[in-house]
Amino acid sequence: SVMREVAGINQMEKELEKKLQIKRVIIVAGDSDHSPWLKKELGLATANCMKSLLKGNNIIAVNGGTTMAAVAEMLTPNIVDGEWLFVPARGGIGEDVKNQANTICSMMADRTASKHRVLYAPDEVSKEMYKSIVKDARINEVLQLIKSASLLIHGIGDAITMAERRSTSASDLEKIVQAEAVGEAFGYYFNEDGEVVHKVQTIGLRLENLSTVPNVIAVAGGSSKSKAISAYLKKAPPSTILITDEGAAKNLI
Ligand code: F6P
Repeated sequence: SVMREVAGINQMEKELEKKLQIKRVIIVAGDSDHSPWLKKELGLATANCMKSLLKGNNIIAVNGGTTMAAVAEMLTPNIVDGEWLFVPARGGIGEDVKNQANTICSMMADRTASKHRVLYAPDEVSKEMYKSIVKDARINEVLQLIKSASLLIHGIGDAITMAERRSTSASDLEKIVQAEAVGEAFGYYFNEDGEVVHKVQTIGLRLENLSTVPNVIAVAGGSSKSKAISAYLKKAPPSTILITDEGAAKNLI
């Protein structure tokens, strides 16, 4: 029965919160690998979670990807209490324009009648370029805003899928494969133990800044992402809220 299913999911959420040692786990029924529309359900759950977490004025840092695009689609003005400002968490990192953080922030702002900022930065930068680029006033302003975000929302991806989806160089791809990376989040590639084995050199939020963000929502579903989710969560801040689906959750238990 429906009631039994709901009870089962509730129990799985509680078990996973304990096992993964994070603040909350929210599971939507189904597996987004087999039902692409489930991404919208993940988006809806995220929108509701944002509404309950955020009161008053907030800066929200956002990452790219198709899941974040689905979150953007499900946002509505009535979830906002106060004023929101959306900022991209990291520079381009090689995604299609529609899946880039800049585009998603602008969509989220449109859908909630809020404001957004653009991070004018290339996907990958050299060390020299990095040093000069962070001095640019427009970029620096966004970097400061990212640091004062009260919420970060981000996706998690399978490492090889992400390396292939971006135009990763042959040598970096080799490095990622050799290091047995299984997961990726905001430009960092993780192995099964949650160790960073490669990072895309771009500007924006760094892994070490994550613990200072009061609220973090990771949204990722589909059984094919379970290894990636489990790897990343080994090092994720305890304040993390995971919004996932049954397909991924079953493999995480
Ligand atoms: O490239 C941005 C990004 O957020 C990655 O960090 C993450 O691995 C990926 O997108 C998730 O993409 P999707 O939601 O399309 O699986």
